[in-house]
Amino acid sequence: MGLSVIILAAGQGKRMKSDLPKVLQPLAGRALLAHVIEAAKKLSPTAIHVVYGHGGEQVRAAFAHENIQWALQAEQKGTGHAVMQAMPTVSAADQVLVLYGDVPLIEPATLRLLRDASDEQTLSLLSVRLPDPTGYGRVLRDNAGSVYRIVEQKDATRKELSVNEVNTGLVCAPAAALNTWLSALSNDNAQGEYYLTDIVAMAVRQGFKVSAVAAPTIPEVLGINDKRQLAEVEAHYRQARASALMDAGVTLIDPTRLDVRGEVQVGRDVIIEPNVTLSGNVVLGHRVQIGAGCLLTNVTVGDDTIIHPYCVLQDAAVGSQCVIGPYARLRPGTELAQAAHVGNFVELKNTRLGEGSKANHLTYLGDAVVGARVNVGAGTITCNYDGVNKWRTVIEDGAFIGSGSMLVAPVSVGKGATIGAGTTLTRSAPPSALTLERAKQQTLPRWSRPVKVSKEEKAEREAKSLNPVTPAGGNTGE
Ligand code: UD1
Ligand code: CA
Repeated sequence: MGLSVIILAAGQGKRMKSDLPKVLQPLAGRALLAHVIEAAKKLSPTAIHVVYGHGGEQVRAAFAHENIQWALQAEQKGTGHAVMQAMPTVSAADQVLVLYGDVPLIEPATLRLLRDASDEQTLSLLSVRLPDPTGYGRVLRDNAGSVYRIVEQKDATRKELSVNEVNTGLVCAPAAALNTWLSALSNDNAQGEYYLTDIVAMAVRQGFKVSAVAAPTIPEVLGINDKRQLAEVEAHYRQARASALMDAGVTLIDPTRLDVRGEVQVGRDVIIEPNVTLSGNVVLGHRVQIGAGCLLTNVTVGDDTIIHPYCVLQDAAVGSQCVIGPYARLRPGTELAQAAHVGNFVELKNTRLGEGSKANHLTYLGDAVVGARVNVGAGTITCNYDGVNKWRTVIEDGAFIGSGSMLVAPVSVGKGATIGAGTTLTRSAPPSALTLERAKQQTLPRWSRPVKVSKEEKAEREAKSLNPVTPAGGNTGE
C-alpha cells in the first residue's frame, strides 16, 4: 500500500501574538512545518498534503519549492473537517498518515512504527502517557486493555479525565475506511467541531482493530501554541543535537549552549566552546577546536585547525592546521589551504589563501587568489569593486605585502615580490622586486601647532569678521 501524508496546518496560532502564521514560526532556524515535512519525506510517501488556512498564501509561498498538495480549510471546523479537505486528492488505495504542522520534533522512526501498526483492518494512533494530561484527548481502554474511544478534555467525565494516556493527534488509517468515517462525523460535542478523534469509536464499531503506539519520547510529540512552548521545544532540539555530538566523541564545554541546525560530521577529539552555532552542512576534522561565539554555516574544517572566538564562517573550506580569528569573517567562496592564518578583523570573500600564507590583522581580501607563504600585512585591502564590476587580485607565492596597501584590482603581485607599506598598487608588480608607491615625505620646519584661544578673544575675532572694517578711503561698491 502507498502512503499519503496529511499535515494539518490550518491553525491560526493566536497565542503566538505574531504576524507570522504559526507553522512558519522558526525552530532551529527553520519553519515548524519544514521540520514536519522533512520527517514525512523520510517515509517516501506518494504525496504530502498540507491543509492550510490562516495566512495561507504566506505558508504556500514558503514551501513553493516543495512538491506539496495544498488543501484549503477556509474555516476551522475541527481536525476531522481539516482532514476532509485533503481527502479528495488522496488515493483510496493508500494508507493515510495524519501529522500536525505544529508538532515538529516527530521522529521518522516513530512515524514508521505508526505506519507499520496500521493496515487495511487496523487504525493506529500515537499515544503518550503524561504526568499532567490536562487539555489533551484521553485514550480510553476497555477491561481487556483495547482502545475503544478517544474523548476530548471538554467532553470528558471526571473519571475519564483521570486517564493519563493521551492522544498525540497523529494517526494512520486506510484511506477508503477513513473516507467513510469522516463522512459520518458530527459536530455534536462541547466545541461544536468535527473531531478526527471520533473515528476511533467508529472503527471499533465496524470491527476494525485499533492499535495505540506509544511515543518513544515526550519531546517528539510536543505541540507548540505559544512562544514559551516554542522555546521549550527548541531547547529539546538543542539538547538532542548536542547529545548526538557528544555520543560521537565531541567535547562540548556547555551542551546547553551549542546550536546545531544542520548536518554535522566530526572527527575525533573535537572541542567546542560555548555559544557556537553550526548550520547547514558542517564537517569538522580531527582535533578541531572552535572558540566561543563562532557561527559556522556550510563549512568544512581540516584536522588540527583552531578557530578562535567570535568568528563567522559561511560557505568556506578551511584546510588543516589553520588558525583563524578571533573576530575573523570568512564569507562565501573562501578557501584556506593548509596552515593558513587569518587573524583578527580580517574578512575574506571568494578568495583562496595558499599554504602557510598569513593575513593576520585588519584586512579585506575579496576575489583574490593568494599563493603559498604569502604575508599580507595589516590593513591591506583588495579594492575589488569599481562600483559596478568585481575584479580579481592575484598574489603569487612568497610575496610580501606591506601594511596598509591598497591593491586596486585587476592587479597582480609576482612571485617573491615585496610591496612597500602604504602602496596603492594600480599596475601589476613584477616578481622578486620591491614595488612601492608613496607620496614624498616632507617636514615643515616653520609650522607651529595652533594655540588655544580664550572665549573673549574668540568672540572679539568673530565680531571683527562679521563687521569688516572698511579700508580707509575705500568705497563700498557703489
Ligand atoms: C487535538 C486532538 C486531541 C489531542 C491533541 C494533541 C481532536 C479533536 N483532538 O486537540 O485529542 O490530544 O490534538 O495536541 O483532534 N487544525 C486544523 N484545522 C482545524 C483544527 C485544527 O488544521 O480546524 C490543526 C491545528 O493547526 C493543529 C492540529 O490540527 O496543528 C491540532 O489542532 P488543535 O486545535 O491543537 O487540537 P486540539 O483541539 O488541541
Ligand atoms: Ca493543540
